[in-house]
Amino acid sequence: YFRDWTGDYVGTALAVIRPATVDAVCKAVRYCAQEGVPIIPQGGNTGLVGGAIDKTGRCVILSLERLNQIRSIDPINLSAIVDAGCVLQTLKAAVAEQNCHFAVSLGAEGSAHIGGIIATNAGGTNVVKFGMTRANIMGLEVVLPDGRLWSNLLELRKDNRGPDLGQIFVGSEGIYGIITGACLKLSPALKTVETAYVGCSSFKDAMQLLNMLRAQCHEFLSGFEIISNKCLPFARLAYPDLRMPVDQSIAVHVLIELSCVAQLPLRDNLEAFLAEALEGEMIEDAVIAQNQAQAGSFWKIREGLVEGYAINGYHVRSDVSVKLSVIPNLIEQLEAMLHQDFPHWTPQTYGHAGDGNVHFIAVPPKGIDTQKTYETGRDIEAAIFRIVDDLEGSFSAEHGIGRTKRDRFCKTSDPVRVALLTAIKQTIDPAGLLNPDCLIRYEEQTCPKASVVLAETLRDI
Ligand code: FAD
Ligand code: LAC
Ligand code: ZN
Repeated sequence: YFRDWTGDYVGTALAVIRPATVDAVCKAVRYCAQEGVPIIPQGGNTGLVGGAIDKTGRCVILSLERLNQIRSIDPINLSAIVDAGCVLQTLKAAVAEQNCHFAVSLGAEGSAHIGGIIATNAGGTNVVKFGMTRANIMGLEVVLPDGRLWSNLLELRKDNRGPDLGQIFVGSEGIYGIITGACLKLSPALKTVETAYVGCSSFKDAMQLLNMLRAQCHEFLSGFEIISNKCLPFARLAYPDLRMPVDQSIAVHVLIELSCVAQLPLRDNLEAFLAEALEGEMIEDAVIAQNQAQAGSFWKIREGLVEGYAINGYHVRSDVSVKLSVIPNLIEQLEAMLHQDFPHWTPQTYGHAGDGNVHFIAVPPKGIDTQKTYETGRDIEAAIFRIVDDLEGSFSAEHGIGRTKRDRFCKTSDPVRVALLTAIKQTIDPAGLLNPDCLIRYEEQTCPKASVVLAETLRDI
């Protein structure tokens, strides 16, 4: 409860409470509100930005892990109602038994909770087809900071009675309410899934391949991930027996997934597409998985990366996005920056290229004084952010803001955006008791300032 998955954040708390019912969450929150005790909601604690960990020791951690039941699955309505503490993988397996599919997929799905993925609006490896978590939700049930319950779990595909209030809580990282339940959108089970592992000589070629693939298979494309070959030794740290489907010396490895609900000959499409790409010298080599086990072994290479970096130790992590056409330029600039200014650090580029999202990692040299390593790491992070800002990208594509990126978020965001977020906080949680100092710095006295920013903007107009 006190250490995040990365080990970057180690904290403490007054207590850890683990309510097993929605009623118990309401009671606990009401009691803490009366006593003025701050609460940090915690799911699977796999978040990568320090959102569920606090160092002050004045908070209670409210873990949702015992509120973990699947309340109902409706294969006809294609919806499921679940407790927030249900583990993503458990939910996916349960809906699969009813011939349904829940689309959010990520490396942490064996630990991350439904509440956690909603609170962070997690992305993952199937966003290219199904969108981020936000796109896969029909309704929410939330305990507000004063202990009141707001519930909208009607399983309706259309309900246009005014603004969709649930959207305020998606991606709000636990600062506006504690999600206790959710109504999720399902699709019928995918009957055809084809996976290819491809080698390209450059990121530019890989992105051109994506263009071509979209033109031919857009509605079937469910995954497009890139991995620089420099990353591969780290995947092997996690899984030493990994076998590479294409020659490791090929510069850029690409994972392609096509899928659909119908039984269609997508393998033929993929084969024809890759043959054309090979002939046009857009790719160097390609292997199509012959069965599910082989597809799993391809994905293991991708999943092994995050674990490999964690095993290796401290590294600079990033989660940035730009327009699709800018990806090759972004990667070129990031790698050149590290090469020129921090030549002893190793660049590692991988990510969800189909969504314009890259995780650029910098691994420090061994044997340097730790304090110096952290200082240099901060300089590298600043340089990454400068490049992304210049390219009009986002410095947090899918992991959120948490505590790690809060100060930069507040400093670099449009002041009206921060003022609106603060004004919502003031309305829902005036005492600032839910996940304090996560996402924004909220103090009661900052609220008049937020209103002033809004008023000034309106006056300027
Ligand atoms: P936690 O870490 O427990 O919490 C995250 C935030 O949500 C905190 O601010 C917390 O206070 C809040 N919160 C948690 N539960 C609730 C609730 N019920 N109500 C209100 N607030 C709540 N992310 C991606 O987007 N894409 C990826 O591909 C991806 N891959 C990952 C791979 C690995 C190996 C790991 C370790 C992480 C990865 N992540 C990825 C990070 C991702 O954000 C988390 O895995 C997940 O979304 C967080 O869920 P959690 O239950 O662990 O939440
Ligand atoms: C991934 C996580 C780190 O894509 O977002 O592996
Ligand atoms: Zn990711």
